Amino acid sequence: MGSRIIGTGKAVPATSLTNHDLERQLETSDEWIRSRTGIASRYLMRTGEALLDIADEASRRALDKAGIKAGELDAIVAGTVSSEYAFPSFACQVQRTLGVSTIPAFDVAAACSGFIFALAVADNAMRAGVWKKVLVIGADALSTMVDWSDRRTAVLFGDGAGAVVLVNEPGPRGVLETLLRSAGEAWDLLSLRATGIRASADSELRRDGADTLKMRGPELFKIAVKSMADITRQVVERAGVTLEEVRVIVPHQANIRILNAVADRLGIPYDKVFINLDRYGNTSAASVPIALDEAWEAGRFCDNDLVLLNACGGGLTWGASLLRW
Ligand code: ACO
Repeated sequence: MGSRIIGTGKAVPATSLTNHDLERQLETSDEWIRSRTGIASRYLMRTGEALLDIADEASRRALDKAGIKAGELDAIVAGTVSSEYAFPSFACQVQRTLGVSTIPAFDVAAACSGFIFALAVADNAMRAGVWKKVLVIGADALSTMVDWSDRRTAVLFGDGAGAVVLVNEPGPRGVLETLLRSAGEAWDLLSLRATGIRASADSELRRDGADTLKMRGPELFKIAVKSMADITRQVVERAGVTLEEVRVIVPHQANIRILNAVADRLGIPYDKVFINLDRYGNTSAASVPIALDEAWEAGRFCDNDLVLLNACGGGLTWGASLLRW
């Protein structure tokens, strides 16, 4: 008994900001951002927008594509660190907007790896026969948590949400293997003292300096490359397949240099890795489900192809999931 993704959906804020737009508010350049990160533009939350509405839209799209009504769901699991509330959970808030009652809804906090962790929780419960239809969401709005005067972090992040519908299904298709890892001893490489969406890029309000996202970028870069490459190799080995057999890797979209370095370590061609970070930036837990939705729409894989998801982020956390589509 396993679980299979039968619907995906994504949604982003209305406003896309280019690197040239950022040049007007920060001491940075399009050339620096593109060459160091691969990012050209990103969608950013503006004052008055709510991540909850964006996650609701992504969830409804995933449900539509799956042909499943919200009322049929057995659970909602959200990977996020961006809820406006410490409680209720973000998943409970989405549960209300979707008009579903009684089923369990809860969050998984693993920063940029949040979607992979949430997917693993759902898949394991479905393997155990606990749930049959589950909505898994990845949603974040880190642009509202950075220090907008700090060019080292402000240019990296975008906001958005992605969602998938998983159904319990016997047979060879679905989630084959998932591996999760954490290294709490390195949590201070990427951290945010207080959560909550309080300062969009356009708002007058600024977060207190101590409450903005803190990142040790160059150290994180090296760990991200090693951890994403290692976990990718391990998950493929555990599933008893080879990397050559994998049709496409849909990774967390942090930085093109990280993704190219992971591909180099794995000895795979760059075009095996789906990239959309040029238009989205790093959307944290939303990046894998947004990319999966786009890769599917773009015909980057077909039924029965092997699709590999991987991510690394604050915690530190990292993980990979191998799917037979
Ligand atoms: N525009 C112009 N100059 C900048 C900018 C900017 N936006 N940001 C930094 N610089 C300057 C720095 O001030 C520094 O100048 P200096 O040498 O005069 O002091 C110079 O550029 C180099 O800075 P570094 O931080 O060493 O640049 P680096 O090449 O390491 O790139 C980056 C920085 C892009 C953040 C890189 O370290 C990285 O991608 N790290 C991974 C971080 C990441 O992806 N975090 C996301 C969350 S974790 C995850 O998702 C995996």
